[in-house]
Amino acid sequence: MKYAKLGSSELNVSRICMGCMGFGDPGQGQHSWTLDEERSREIIKHGLDLGVNFFDTAIAYQSGTSEQFVGRALRDFAKRDQVVVATKFLPRTQEEIQAGVSGQQHVANMLDQSLANLGMDYVDLYICHMWDWNTPIEEILEGLSNAVKAGKVRYTGISNCFAWQLAKANAIAQRDGFPQFVSVQGHYNLIFREEEREMAVLCAEANIAMTPYSALASGRLARLPGETSKRAEEDKFAKFKYDATREQDEVIIRRVAEVAENHGVSMTEVSLAWLLTKVTAPVVGATKLHHMEGADKATELELSPDEIQFLEEPYVPHPLAGVMAQNRPQK
Ligand SMILES: NC(=O)c1ccc[n+]([C@@H]2O[C@H](COP(=O)([O-])OP(=O)(O)OC[C@H]3O[C@@H](n4cnc5c(N)ncnc54)[C@H](OP(=O)(O)O)[C@@H]3O)[C@@H](O)[C@H]2O)c1
Repeated sequence: MKYAKLGSSELNVSRICMGCMGFGDPGQGQHSWTLDEERSREIIKHGLDLGVNFFDTAIAYQSGTSEQFVGRALRDFAKRDQVVVATKFLPRTQEEIQAGVSGQQHVANMLDQSLANLGMDYVDLYICHMWDWNTPIEEILEGLSNAVKAGKVRYTGISNCFAWQLAKANAIAQRDGFPQFVSVQGHYNLIFREEEREMAVLCAEANIAMTPYSALASGRLARLPGETSKRAEEDKFAKFKYDATREQDEVIIRRVAEVAENHGVSMTEVSLAWLLTKVTAPVVGATKLHHMEGADKATELELSPDEIQFLEEPYVPHPLAGVMAQNRPQK
């Protein structure tokens, strides 16, 4: 495993972040395909053995049970100061707004719930899961600042935002003396490259780490078209993100397979090796024990400039999908 500094922070993270959305009680929450606690623990333990020290979860994943599984496993298998734990908070709900809960109080409440789920007294990276159009960003930033001052959060990050939103938030944070976001978790992989328009340039300029999610397009960049899995059958969120552009994406997926065959490696290794040339640490999900090995090996694979060009050449701009397609003022 290789390691890198997370943007301007002092966090030294493995270049593969373990995505923990697939861990949690399958009976609670949005996903029917998640792994139970025993199987989740095996994968987390295996990741630690391979040198992964960076774990990404969220209060939204399976109603907090992902945080619970991850927290228990990390407490059992790792030393707290040797892992980097990231979790995420959601926007204020209409009920909270009507009850007069401020943005600052909302952040404090969500964080306390996540810390209870994790069984930890701080998180290393606290991420704003998506832009909250109903709450002034100043309130969110002050809430995060309070959490850092209280020692409950070390650094803050953001997810699912436009470059202008991140630039605006960090400018306000700098003006008001609040912590700036050190990382951004956007949707970015070989078949969805819209982050290259503006976000990648902002991040390079401002030393913000990119830690993209769905690095393997939820499995599509790890297997040939037509091959399937329980998740591939049941994950309707991923279908919503990728089904509309399936034909054009398959051209790239087949090129990934070709490069993989030339190197005698897996498609996972090629897809992640490409992304590792662009970002600090992709967030990679796993539903089987051996999946983490492919991710680990990707950090060793070097693609030539010609191979990178071959993989990139067929891409055509995609419409926004998933959470980013909803990133606009709420009616
Ligand atoms: N911030 C956000 O809004 C957001 C949104 C989505 C995800 N995330 C984060 O990003 C993480 C990853 O997202 P993701 O699960 O959608 O995407 P992903 O990493 O693109 O895909 C993971 C899937 O790829 C397949 N896979 C992984 N390693 C493999 C290997 N070595 N060989 C063959 N197949 C392999 C598995 O598919 P099968 O199970 O089908 O075999 C696995 O479920 C999540 O866990 C979460 O932490 C964040």
